[in-house]
Amino acid sequence: MLFTVRHARPSETLAVSELAVRTFPLACPPTLERAHIDTYIRENLSPTHFDAHIGHPEHDVLVATVGPEILGYALVLFGADGSPSPGLGVTLNPAGLLSKCYMDPKVHGTKAGASLLVAAEERARERHAEGLWLNTNAHNIRAQRFYRKHGFSRVGDIDFVVGGIVHRDPVFEKRV
Ligand SMILES: CC(C)(COP(=O)(O)OP(=O)(O)OC[C@H]1O[C@@H](n2cnc3c(N)ncnc32)[C@H](O)[C@@H]1OP(=O)(O)O)[C@@H](O)C(=O)NCCC(=O)NCCS
Repeated sequence: MLFTVRHARPSETLAVSELAVRTFPLACPPTLERAHIDTYIRENLSPTHFDAHIGHPEHDVLVATVGPEILGYALVLFGADGSPSPGLGVTLNPAGLLSKCYMDPKVHGTKAGASLLVAAEERARERHAEGLWLNTNAHNIRAQRFYRKHGFSRVGDIDFVVGGIVHRDPVFEKRV
């Protein structure tokens, strides 16, 4: 399957939000209660949130499409919003935050996620960042394998809050 990755259009925020709502739970540990996941979704993944990201000059919302269908999305933050706090272990400066990277489950395992990573790295180069950093849940072994396979290295840890519950997530970075 050939994926095209491009910037999301303002008219697509509902579709991106729906994909985000469907896929966010896949990155959460099985022990996390649905109520906490729903709180995170309400506070971060609505069409209004994606509208704001698309309108922000230092945020990129990328979508992986096949024809008219959106089958994946990435959210990359540059500038102050993407800048890692000291102490996370990130060595690249400036670095963009790959805040979200999600594919529709029907294409998991097809290597489709790589197309999002390639596009996010391209954006980082275009924005003159040294690289990208990200965090992923400690139990999300599939994602960690995916990022390592594509050249990310573990550099530290971060407290990541989902619906009021603090998770100690591994932090990864990659020079672009
Ligand atoms: C992480 C993700 C973007 C990777 O995209 P992808 O197109 O599936 O990537 P790949 O095809 O290269 O697969 C990555 C790994 O997942 C494994 N995997 C793929 N599909 C799977 C499935 N249905 N069930 C279990 N494992 C699967 C593969 O074995 C592969 O590992 P390998 O290369 O060592 O064999 C995608 O799986 C995804 O959206 N996952 C859910 C959301 C998520 O966790 N996002 C990251 C948040 S930080």
